[in-house]
Amino acid sequence: MADDQPWKIPPIVQELAAGVQTPPSRYVVREENRPDAAVAMPEPIPIVDLSRLSAASDGHGSDDEIAKLRSALQSWGLFLAVGHGMEPSFLAELMEVTRGFYNLPMEEKQKYSNLVNGKEFRVEGYGNDMVVSENQTLDWCDRFYLIVEPESRRVHSLWPPQPPSFCDVLREYTAKCREIVNLVLANLAKLLGLHEGYFLDKMAPEEAATYARFSYYPRCPKPDQVYGLKPHSDGSIITVVFVDDTVSGLQVRDDAGVWYDVPIVPNTLIINVGDAIEIMSNGLLKSPVHRVVTNFERERVSLAMFYTMDPEKEIEPAPELVDEERPRRYGKMKTGDYIAEIFETLARGTRAIDTVKI
Ligand code: OGA
Ligand code: NI
Repeated sequence: MADDQPWKIPPIVQELAAGVQTPPSRYVVREENRPDAAVAMPEPIPIVDLSRLSAASDGHGSDDEIAKLRSALQSWGLFLAVGHGMEPSFLAELMEVTRGFYNLPMEEKQKYSNLVNGKEFRVEGYGNDMVVSENQTLDWCDRFYLIVEPESRRVHSLWPPQPPSFCDVLREYTAKCREIVNLVLANLAKLLGLHEGYFLDKMAPEEAATYARFSYYPRCPKPDQVYGLKPHSDGSIITVVFVDDTVSGLQVRDDAGVWYDVPIVPNTLIINVGDAIEIMSNGLLKSPVHRVVTNFERERVSLAMFYTMDPEKEIEPAPELVDEERPRRYGKMKTGDYIAEIFETLARGTRAIDTVKI
């Protein structure tokens, strides 16, 4: 397939970046879309203490904390989480194995390539995001995807033995994030007036895949001309992002179209809602548009955990959130089809959610 379409297999950016003074034209963003300087946040993104939220109806949850959660999501579609039960030393180890993976020799990383037979793209594995057209503007980033849940879907041959603690740390992180996500989804349902299990039931965690995406943004000689990751919203229900503790780059757009830097706050996790929550909440919660910019001096890494739904389930606004005053804003779509659409639209720089908007 790709033999006569070599553009489908772009280079590994880490290798490319080591040898160029100027990004090749395929990476250069059209002038009108270039990442201009972002603005500092007018006020800090609320930091939510997860240990003060409660999942069950035991009444221990703090109203203040729920109020913070609501305000963060309404303003930004994301919040910073503390009280997540992970020690700073564990998070430091997670950062270390992420960097460690990208510091492995290229031949080692290529053992986990996301190209089947060297040419057929698949999501899982190491390499680039999918290229769907010759004119696509490419992102200045390499990535390594693994399905971490359900356990039955882990492709063990892709889990690297190096760095030595990579797999153990990822397994532990996956288990911790699952607790966090269950707690947050229960609270999101509550704040929308739905029953606590609403999103979890829809998600059907026994069938739904969770993807871990380790991203690597090499240093870029012209950060003003390229994107680390072009503007997008996540197709997930919810995403947990662990960002580089020294180099910033993540930016979020507000309703007025202004871009803001998401600050680095040590030992916090960034949690954003995805398109599936925007659709199910009938637009009451918005899936934030965000992007990543690159850095002239330093490379940057991150780890995003994308929680998706059972691909066989349909996704649509909760009937409880549709009425005459607030008519239905999104159509219905099979989750599996939506996820396929996500990878296409990500490549094209459009948004999958626009295809279901009424
Ligand atoms: C993503 C993403 C943010 C980051 O992978 O979808 O938005 O900081 N990542 O790398
Ligand atoms: Ni994203």
